[in-house]
Amino acid sequence: MLFKQQALLRQKLFLLGSLAIGSLLYLVARVGSLDRLQPLCPIDGRFGPRGQDEIPLRALQFKRGLLHEFRKGNATKEQIRLHNLVQQLPKAIIIGVRKGGTRALLEMLNLHPAVVKASQEIHFFDNDENYAKGIEWYRKKMPFSYPHQITIEKSPAYFITEEVPERIYKMNSSIKLLIIVREPTTRAISDYTQVLEGKERKNKTYYKFEKLAIDPNTCEVNTKYKAVRTSIYTKHLERWLKYFPIEQFHIVDGDRLITEPLPELQLVEKFLNLPPRISQYNLYFNATRGFYCLRFNIVFNKCLAGSKGRIHPEVDTSVITKLRKFFHPFNQKFYQITGRTFNWP
Ligand code: A3P
Repeated sequence: MLFKQQALLRQKLFLLGSLAIGSLLYLVARVGSLDRLQPLCPIDGRFGPRGQDEIPLRALQFKRGLLHEFRKGNATKEQIRLHNLVQQLPKAIIIGVRKGGTRALLEMLNLHPAVVKASQEIHFFDNDENYAKGIEWYRKKMPFSYPHQITIEKSPAYFITEEVPERIYKMNSSIKLLIIVREPTTRAISDYTQVLEGKERKNKTYYKFEKLAIDPNTCEVNTKYKAVRTSIYTKHLERWLKYFPIEQFHIVDGDRLITEPLPELQLVEKFLNLPPRISQYNLYFNATRGFYCLRFNIVFNKCLAGSKGRIHPEVDTSVITKLRKFFHPFNQKFYQITGRTFNWP
């Protein structure tokens, strides 16, 4: 009897052991295959002219964790020297538009092993005080990266600030510029919602959107209201075009980035001459958030902060109609200049 029980116990232990080893082997194989999903593919894109600047993508992906540590400021001078890390000026900037989805775009591009994001909005070109500190100050604000990676920063105020195009041009006249836009009325309401939330946090009262967007004296759209002005994309773009040719801009559809991010990101990869590395694996829909979230690997994924994707207040339909009618001719001009048409009403 005792012998029979011991045999049964041995059998159980053996089964449990095999199960544990099997799971471990499965995990190892899975991590390996996930890793292979991205950086192992052959390199089929380059930054510069063909033959120059090949990107050792696999090595870059492998060292990503290390870069993350360095970004947190944990790197010693010796480590930086050993790994050949540099703080590079951006090769591309997301210049706007505020509430267009600039954070989502930056974070999603950062999924690419050859892209390193500047996490904070640096406000170098739009803030006179910062600008007076000089370009070295700006460079020192950039994250550490490997020489073959590209740094991207986003400061949406750049798009609407008068002095910025000339200042960026002086830094790098061939820089690539990304503009993410949404249907102008929705963007204006999103802009308003952000300001409203700020006021509420400080226990302050604020006007209704309708009151700000429509001039009570004329009953016309109030073009002095900043949220309205920012949505007149063509007016701002025209200022930029005095310095940069249209080929240096890429327009991202912010509404599509919400519902179907991958194709939008693939267009950006192409524009930046990056090999296509962001895949469906990197993006998963989170039903609770109602947005796509980011998956870097089997262990690390994240959604954007709750301040992205606020619930907008209800706005009087007649005001929405008036705004849409107002934006219509500007939108047509914007399509014409950029060569990208949207189904905005
Ligand atoms: P709403 O808050 O109006 O929904 P920005 O980063 O430029 O401030 O833009 C914020 C907007 O990004 C949000 O506007 C949201 O709709 C949009 N967005 C796009 N993709 C998103 C994502 N994956 N997660 C959260 N917000 C996203």
